[in-house]
Amino acid sequence: MADVKRGLRRNLTAYGDEEFSLFLRRAFIKAMGYTDEALERPIIGVTNTYSGFNACHRTVPELIEAVKRGVMLAGGLPVEFPTITLHESFAYPTSMYLRNLMAVDAEEMIRAQPVDSVVLIGGCDKTVPALLMGAASANVPAILMVTGPMLTGNHKGERLGACTDCRRFWARFRAKDIDEAEINEVNAKLAPTAGTCMVMGTASTMALCAEALGMMLPGSAAIPAVFAERVRNAEATGARAVALAKERLAPDRIMTPDAFENALRVLLAIGGSTNAIVHFAAIAGRLGFGLDLDAFDRMGRETPVLVDLKPTGQHYMEHLYEAGGLATLLRELKPMLHGNALTVNGKTLFENLDAARIPEKQDVVRSRDNPIFAAGGMAVLRGNLAPDGAIIKQAAATARLMTHTGRAVVFESLEDLANRIDDPALDVTAEDIIVLQSAGPKGAPGMPEAGYIPIPRKLAEQGVKDMVRISDARMSGTAFGSIVLHVTPESAVGGPLALVKNGDTIRLDVPQRRLELLVDDAELAARRKRWQPRAPRREDDRGYRKLFLDTVQQADRGCDFDFLAPEVTMRIPRTS
Ligand code: FES
Repeated sequence: MADVKRGLRRNLTAYGDEEFSLFLRRAFIKAMGYTDEALERPIIGVTNTYSGFNACHRTVPELIEAVKRGVMLAGGLPVEFPTITLHESFAYPTSMYLRNLMAVDAEEMIRAQPVDSVVLIGGCDKTVPALLMGAASANVPAILMVTGPMLTGNHKGERLGACTDCRRFWARFRAKDIDEAEINEVNAKLAPTAGTCMVMGTASTMALCAEALGMMLPGSAAIPAVFAERVRNAEATGARAVALAKERLAPDRIMTPDAFENALRVLLAIGGSTNAIVHFAAIAGRLGFGLDLDAFDRMGRETPVLVDLKPTGQHYMEHLYEAGGLATLLRELKPMLHGNALTVNGKTLFENLDAARIPEKQDVVRSRDNPIFAAGGMAVLRGNLAPDGAIIKQAAATARLMTHTGRAVVFESLEDLANRIDDPALDVTAEDIIVLQSAGPKGAPGMPEAGYIPIPRKLAEQGVKDMVRISDARMSGTAFGSIVLHVTPESAVGGPLALVKNGDTIRLDVPQRRLELLVDDAELAARRKRWQPRAPRREDDRGYRKLFLDTVQQADRGCDFDFLAPEVTMRIPRTS
């Protein structure tokens, strides 16, 4: 780091007279009640991501108190400051639209304020990637902690969890399998405690991968939100933040290519959320590392899915915690990991692993010779329909549909989908392939989690549970289905997805990693000539929306703004 100033002398406000800037700063911070003695300590920033709209962050005030206690015990001065927070269900049009705004906020506030290190408190899906993106760019010593997963609920003797079971019960309600009274009863039980979704959705995925990345204290990803241990973890995180400040251990020494490869390996082995691919492309991109989707696919072909959590398996995060958390998985993956990668506690990944508890008995993390899914749980598809790639999570799909040719039933937008998907006159069969256009980064905008296209009601009522569905959207990590996502380039910028018409034939061949629109080249060229981007809307021309539409990149570049990432200096993962 170029700036070697510490404490209040860091990042002085520009008055043209540094001593005057410090004099003024001292005057105003004393108005907060601090003594000179307190102000001599390392200053540890603590991000406050609490919001009345974010139940996943409901415990943040308590965690902040514990972090501050840890900072004080270790001789630092904690100072909390607010950042944007994002909850999946309270961000219109989608939280992904605002992730980069939160990342910019985090980066600039870390950089603008006199913090010697910072504790990043995240949890809900977009908050962890946004904080890591911001911290990577600010490159001030930083340590992440998560709010932790919720505990499960119970309905008629069956465990329930957000949000795999949200979707499962909603699908049953749509199919008239359960009535309104029961769906309302279930609604009150799906999120029974504070914390993040307790299945292997994006929040759990990002927490586990961030621990594997080395940015969290070892053992902290899976601790349930409402356990006392979560609060003790916060205290330990605060204490470690003081040491980080003294050691000046900045994110660029932790988030190395080795560390990203460890995180991507874990992403594959946990059967994690496909969203994490986009987020890791963005986080790595901030440090000049470009995500090589084909190399990621090759990594996937040699990585078994070992964690038996919903939606791929049967358990929930509280069970993974009881099973020893991430360490139990890392032990299984040991030959595939970079053990010397430095982590935020100053030790290497394998030093931490050696110190981790070994559960006496557990059935959540499988051995490599008895996987949940042998290899390729996530696959990268290419073909004339997705020249820059598309993703399918075949570990959470119907095996029979992984090689499938069908007739396209096309919806031109989310509005079109909402208007017609349940129309009894819709010309659709279970063997067709549903195509959704204009749901990508620029198209929606914000690449919402609309890729989990509902089964048309008339088919759902006949008992159809899965069909091939294709879009340029994302999908919640909590969802299950034969769903092709992140088709790149997206339809709104004229990607081939925009050229698909009702009745076209599409071929999906996951074993061969192909996604093909079986329409001859001359016809496609004619369609391309006629293609017009959608007319701009009035609101497209101002504010954050204009910035977003002008600069957001495609999914393979993490949907980051084009001006936020430096030039790519290395492609990861570096597989052969
Ligand atoms: Fe916050 Fe699922 S809605 S983690």
